[in-house]
Amino acid sequence: MSWDRLDLVIFGATGFTGKQTVIHMMEFAEKYNIRSWGVAGRSDKKLAELMKEVGQKTGKKSAAHAVTVIIADINDEKSLKNMCSRCKVLVNCCGPYRLYGEPVVKAAVESKTHYVDISGEPQFMEKMQLKYNDMACEAGVYIISACGWDSIPSDMGVMFLKQNFEGTLNSVRSYMKSEIPPEAMAKAEGRGVINYGTWESLVHGVAHNNELPALRKKLYPEPLPSLKPKLCRQIMHKKDGDSEYYLPFLGADESVVFRTQHDLHFKDNERPIQFKIYFKSGGFFRTIMTIFAGAFFFIMAKMRCTRNLLLKYPKFFSMGRVTKEGPVDIVMNNTYFSFDMIGEGWEEGADIDKTKPNKRVMGKVSGVNPAYGATCVALLSSAIIILKESDKMPGTGGVMTTGMAFKDTTLINYLNENNLKYEIYKPINIV
Ligand SMILES: NC(=O)c1ccc[n+]([C@@H]2O[C@H](COP(=O)([O-])OP(=O)(O)OC[C@H]3O[C@@H](n4cnc5c(N)ncnc54)[C@H](OP(=O)(O)O)[C@@H]3O)[C@@H](O)[C@H]2O)c1
Repeated sequence: MSWDRLDLVIFGATGFTGKQTVIHMMEFAEKYNIRSWGVAGRSDKKLAELMKEVGQKTGKKSAAHAVTVIIADINDEKSLKNMCSRCKVLVNCCGPYRLYGEPVVKAAVESKTHYVDISGEPQFMEKMQLKYNDMACEAGVYIISACGWDSIPSDMGVMFLKQNFEGTLNSVRSYMKSEIPPEAMAKAEGRGVINYGTWESLVHGVAHNNELPALRKKLYPEPLPSLKPKLCRQIMHKKDGDSEYYLPFLGADESVVFRTQHDLHFKDNERPIQFKIYFKSGGFFRTIMTIFAGAFFFIMAKMRCTRNLLLKYPKFFSMGRVTKEGPVDIVMNNTYFSFDMIGEGWEEGADIDKTKPNKRVMGKVSGVNPAYGATCVALLSSAIIILKESDKMPGTGGVMTTGMAFKDTTLINYLNENNLKYEIYKPINIV
C-alpha cells in the first residue's frame, strides 16, 4: 500500500450519520494525530457546504478547509476505485448497505484499501464475507462491518466479559435499554429520534430476511457444536431486579456475535460463547403493544405495496420516531443507553462436562447518543485501530467481524476514552 495515501476517507459524508462522523473526526484527528483525511460523496456542492458548516460548528474553520474532498458515486465504479485508492482505510457511511454497499466493498478490495462500515444488515454482511473474504485475504486488507452501535457494544462486550472471566464462559445474556428524558423530547421539534436511513435499512432488511438461512449455510457449512447448558431464548420476561418487561431484540447483534464465535471456534479452536440479547419494552400493556406493532411492521415490510407505504410515510408508521430530517442535537445528546451483560460459566479448573456453571460475571456497556454519537466513536476508533494496530489483528486481512478483528487490540480503551464505557462489576460471584 502506498504511504502517500490519506489515512482515511469518510464516504457518505453528506448523509445524516456521515455528517456526525465528520464532526467527530475533527476532534479525533487532533486527539489521535491523524494527519491526513478526506470526505467523499457524489455532490461537490453538498460536500463544500458540509465542510463549511462543520468548520463553523466545531470552531475549526481552517482545519475543515484543509480536509481533502473526493467525488465518488455508487453508480460509477471508476470513481469508487479512485476514492479507495487514495486512502488507507475507507469509512463507509453510505447505506442502506443492501442497496449501496457491495460496489464499495469491491472497490476497496480491488484497491487494497481497508474498509469499515456501520451496517446493521446481516444479509449484507454475510454475503460480503462469503463473496470477498478470499480476495480480501489475498489483497491483505481488512473488511469489517457493524462497527457502529450495531454491534460493537455486543460483539466487543462478549469479548470483554470473556477476557475478564478467568474461567470458561458458556453464555452471555444482554439487556439493553434506552431512555430520553421528557424535557429533551419536548424540544424534538417534530423531528423524532431516528433518521430515515436507518428505517430504510430496517425495512429492506426485514423484507429480505428469508435470504439469511441459505447464506449462512453456504458461509458456515459446518455447524457449531451443541453446548451445554444451552442458552434458550426467553420471550416476554423480567430481568432479575427489574420490574419491567424485556423482549428479544431482533437487530444484527446476535448474528454478528454468532459469526465471531463461529470463527473463533473453527480458526482458533476456542469454545464458543452463546449469546442472547433483549430490549426493555416497559410495563405489561406497553409490551403487548410493542409486540403487535412489531408484527404489524413485519407483515407490512414483507409485501411490496405495504413496504412502499412504510418507505413513503416513515413518520406516520413509526408514530413520529423516524423523520427524513433526522433528530435535533438536544434529543441525540440526551439519549442514554446501556447494555447490562450477564455472563455465566465455570471457574478455572472446574470439570465443565460434569458440573453446572458455577461462576457469574456482570458487565455494562453504556453511553449517550447511540445512533449518531456512540456509532461515530466506534466507527472512527475501529478505523484508527486498523491504522495503528494492524499487527495485533488476525492474519493479514479478510472479511471479519469486529470481535474477531479487534479482540487483541486496544479498541476498548479508545471507546472508554470517548464515552462509550465498558465496565465489569466486581466481585465476580460464585453462583
Ligand atoms: N450501526 C448503527 O448503529 C447505525 C447508526 C446510524 C446509521 N446507520 C446506518 O448508516 C446508513 C446511513 O444512514 P443515514 O441515516 O446517515 O442515511 P442518509 O442520511 O440517507 O445518508 C445516506 C448517504 O448515502 C449517500 N448516497 C446515496 N446514494 C448515493 C450514490 N449513488 N452515490 C454516492 N452516495 C450516495 C447519500 O448521499 P447524498 O447526501 O448525496 O444523498 C448520503 O450521504 C444506514 O444504512 C443506517 O442503517 C447505522
